[in-house]
Amino acid sequence: MSTLPTALKNSRCILHIDLDCFYCQVEQVRLGIPFDVPAAVQQWRGLIAVNYAARKAGVERHADIDDAKKICPNIKLLHVATYGPNDTEPRYHPNPDRRTHKVSLEPYRNASREIFKIFHKYCGTIQKIGTDEGFLDVTETVNQRLIERYVPQLLDKLHDEDCGVLIDWHTLGVVVTSPDEDMSESSSEKQWKTTTWRDLQLAIGAELATEIRKEIYDKLQYTCSAGIAHYKTVAKLCSSKNKPNKQTVLREAARQTFMADVPFKKIRNLGGKLGAEVGSDLEISNARELWKYSIKELQDKFGVSTGLYIYNICRGVDDEEVTSMKAPKSLMAAKAFNPAIQNPTQMQPWFSILSVELHTRILRNYEDFGTWPKNITIRYRSFGSYRTKAIGSLPKDDMKNNESLLKKFQQSYNSIPDAYPCLGLDLIASGLSHDESSKSHTLNRFFTTSSTSAHLANSTIIHPPPPVTKKNLFFKKPLPVKPTDAETWVCDNCKQTVSVADIDEHTDYHFALEISQQDSNAPNTSVKRRKSPPTNEDKKKKVNNFFLPRS
Ligand code: CTP
Ligand code: CA
Ligand code: CA
Repeated sequence: MSTLPTALKNSRCILHIDLDCFYCQVEQVRLGIPFDVPAAVQQWRGLIAVNYAARKAGVERHADIDDAKKICPNIKLLHVATYGPNDTEPRYHPNPDRRTHKVSLEPYRNASREIFKIFHKYCGTIQKIGTDEGFLDVTETVNQRLIERYVPQLLDKLHDEDCGVLIDWHTLGVVVTSPDEDMSESSSEKQWKTTTWRDLQLAIGAELATEIRKEIYDKLQYTCSAGIAHYKTVAKLCSSKNKPNKQTVLREAARQTFMADVPFKKIRNLGGKLGAEVGSDLEISNARELWKYSIKELQDKFGVSTGLYIYNICRGVDDEEVTSMKAPKSLMAAKAFNPAIQNPTQMQPWFSILSVELHTRILRNYEDFGTWPKNITIRYRSFGSYRTKAIGSLPKDDMKNNESLLKKFQQSYNSIPDAYPCLGLDLIASGLSHDESSKSHTLNRFFTTSSTSAHLANSTIIHPPPPVTKKNLFFKKPLPVKPTDAETWVCDNCKQTVSVADIDEHTDYHFALEISQQDSNAPNTSVKRRKSPPTNEDKKKKVNNFFLPRS
């Protein structure tokens, strides 16, 4: 792209898109309940998603259903789908009981797949975070449009900062203004700062965001909010700033002002331990209060890499790439029992519920990624210790329905001598990988290898310290962040950054990996004990308050 304006050589355009009150929207669309009717999604006696009309009335997520009804008597409470005994698919049972039913989030996963299919039409580099949000690096599409539309007339400006194109920002969403821009009603002439090439890049990014959001609404009737910026952290802050159904653009001229009042715990990666450390060490709460420290001061305190990271992030700058979606390594269907299951008769219905769920997930995963599990493993728990039993693999021909899986599952579990009392039973598919047939016939719609996108510019990072190059400093090692109120978490095991919504699955992945390693030594028959089992307490510690108890 030789005609790319110099200012855009290292400038990215990132969208962060997040669905509004996602689970609730899915149920409202299914039932045709208008968005201005207060509604919430119920799981047993608690609320897991609350729509905006109900939030206005004061209802909060995690509220108890009785409290919610007191605060907002006309609220519609929509229970999540569940598998009941003998169900071969999740259903909306009128009065599900946690002793006999299992919650299914399948409807939300399905909606999520439809949404991400639309994202994929616009952009190849998508980082999925949980079920309802993602980062899209739309730089390539945006630059292409920009070059076609503007460059031929502006060849003499290619090396300038400003392109001077007049933009009606008001049509592009909520545009954060800089301190010297007066957008008040009284000012007769709206005084946007002169448009830079980088602003133009965001303007076209905002146009694209509008198109994506429109397609999602037209095809699926879901609304979402979007942030448009040059960096991931600020893009995310923008999408959550104005909700629901809005998009927010953050130009460079306004970036620092925008960051000033951001509580720094809201910044991705600072929500956890690191944020707590910074907060107590420096006695600060807002990003602005960090500006007075030099890079050196921050590095002396927090180390070279983390110090520079903090210096930049409190100004809204980061160097984190949008990393494309990867196929999962394991899938799981899990159920915790409280009270414990005491005998095979009580256990009987759960074999079918869990095998139906895992079966569905294996097939769906095959459609999306073309990978098939090598191992199926049972994990069961009595009094704190997890045990596992491998039940081998299942060829595709045996998976036309869930019957073979159910049979093997049942037989294997029934042959375990110490199976009861049982506090938890999980069915895990691990070692998901491509086989010959899958390579040839699947679409591999979502399976994209990480893009080789150009890296962010040195010039975008504020004052890197002389002795170390920026490349070595950023995200070589992920920051030591644990989930508290952060939305990502760094795995102790592999140091990968994981969305909180995926912690369970990620932890299971390591577990499954361990199992498959054990499997290769002694297949099928023996009952194995985990060396250091993650007790439920461990799991709780890891996920903190993010997750309701397993369903
Ligand atoms: N979710 C959940 N438990 C959590 C966090 C999230 O079940 N601890 C579910 C919610 O029900 C939600 C979806 O994951 O609908 C996405 O979460 P999030 O984006 O945080 O909330 P939304 O409900 O979508 O609300 P918002 O409009 O504020 O994004
Ligand atoms: Ca959301
Ligand atoms: Ca979200």
